[in-house]
Amino acid sequence: MNHDATIPTATRHDGVGDQALREQPAADARPVRITAALAAAAAMAVACGGSGGASDDGAQSAARADRSELASKVDQGRQIFRFDTFGDETKWTDALRMHEVIRTAVDPTTALAVGLKVDAQALPAVVVAGIQNGTISLTSPATTVALLKLDAVVGLKGMVETQNGVDTLTRVGVTCALCHSTVDNSFAPGIGKRLDGWPNRDLNVGAIIALSPALSAEVKAVYNSWGPGRYDPRFNLDGKNGPQVIPPAYGLRGLHSITSTGDGADLAYWNRYVGVTQMGGHGSFVEPRTGVSVTNGTDDLISAKLPALQAYQLSLDSPPPPAGSFDMAAAERGKQVFRQAGQCSSCHTGEHFTDGNSRLHPPSEVVSEPEPPGVPSYASRSATKMYRTAPLRGLWQHAPYFHNGTAATLEAVVQTYDSRQSLGLTAAQMSDLVQYLKSL
Ligand code: HEC
Ligand code: HEC
Repeated sequence: MNHDATIPTATRHDGVGDQALREQPAADARPVRITAALAAAAAMAVACGGSGGASDDGAQSAARADRSELASKVDQGRQIFRFDTFGDETKWTDALRMHEVIRTAVDPTTALAVGLKVDAQALPAVVVAGIQNGTISLTSPATTVALLKLDAVVGLKGMVETQNGVDTLTRVGVTCALCHSTVDNSFAPGIGKRLDGWPNRDLNVGAIIALSPALSAEVKAVYNSWGPGRYDPRFNLDGKNGPQVIPPAYGLRGLHSITSTGDGADLAYWNRYVGVTQMGGHGSFVEPRTGVSVTNGTDDLISAKLPALQAYQLSLDSPPPPAGSFDMAAAERGKQVFRQAGQCSSCHTGEHFTDGNSRLHPPSEVVSEPEPPGVPSYASRSATKMYRTAPLRGLWQHAPYFHNGTAATLEAVVQTYDSRQSLGLTAAQMSDLVQYLKSL
């Protein structure tokens, strides 16, 4: 069923991509490197039919009406997740005027440098040829506009119109994929196949927003303070600055406690929150517990899409650890540490390694608080004032850890627990525990 979650592990080690990466020289030769990579990308896209990952399983299971109905809902949801802005051009174009910045100042090299990703499968041979023969430049914003026209920039949706014979970006909006998809880098850093649900930890959302000509210097300073892979989904509402690590959107099937503070009982709650209050999509979000009440536009471009969007997200499994990425014998010993000496399974229980479906935890029980100096408690800004025990599947994929990213590695996570909870683990126990966490 779920190709997007299984493609990555199958292709991450594919010979073409690895070779392309190995052959790459240092960063100063970037344009040349990207040109070669784009050529490979196009060849691959053609070879694969460039279909963008439509589900074959859907066809096979068509005999079963209920399953095929779900499959088509999942397909719709994939389109929404990748390409739907819910009308948020009102924010990104009319208010922030990002289309002006992109079309005049953001060439592809700059776009990749702030962590934007390019979907290699969306690039037709003609674009690659243009880049190769020099009629399309990677240091020209016009190329970014061309990529947007192809829907090849992950998470950005542009409207490109011909004005005086020139392709001109007239509107731009963002989609869920901006923060919650990346690519497998199979052709070049930042260019490859889409990996939906994988957080984009390279993306400097704050730096991108700060390019807007419509913001004050004070607000820009806050956006510029966040750094790659972080975003504060409450700053524009409560004015407090405490960016969160962008979390995975995979591996959430069966969990009824959504976000690090468990604000919602299902994905649709938070999808509506982000779609309306952060992306700026048309619709309403009302939450009495935090006093947030936002309505954008006079139409509702979100509500009808929430069921399909949720179905797609729930189809995204966490990616299994790559073969050979951990020591199996040590992981087996680490499992015992997790269950006994480490007392981890008193909260990290069940299939997802979380007790989130039955309880939340006050900040006093959670090792990632207090926040770094000067940062307000994230729980205090949320609807629940508590934290959800984080699900642990796919941990290998998404360092840094904790809601605030205060643990750079799994070693740091284990050391934090050992010292904060006075566990008295030996060095060997800690290292076994790390191997176990890498195996989940
Ligand atoms: C600008 C970046 C950004 C965009 C765009 C964005 N998100 Fe998120 N998302 C975040 C951040 C940051 C969090 C962490 C919030 C928290 O834990 O309080 C989050 C949390 C989530 C979660 C909770 C995961 C969990 O572990 O419970 C889900 C699900 C999610 N987002 C889905 C979506 C969907 C669907 C969309 C599009 C409607 C979307 N996001 C758009 C940044 C973004
Ligand atoms: C009292 C309940 C509790 C116990 C005991 C506990 N955890 Fe946690 N764990 C949490 C909560 C709550 C979070 C989320 C904190 C946050 O987001 O900042 C978390 C987060 C984590 C994370 C980060 C996940 C991510 O996606 O960033 C890891 C890894 C982790 N715990 C491992 C462990 C290990 C290993 C142990 C045992 C040594 C342990 N936990 C014991 C409640 C607990």
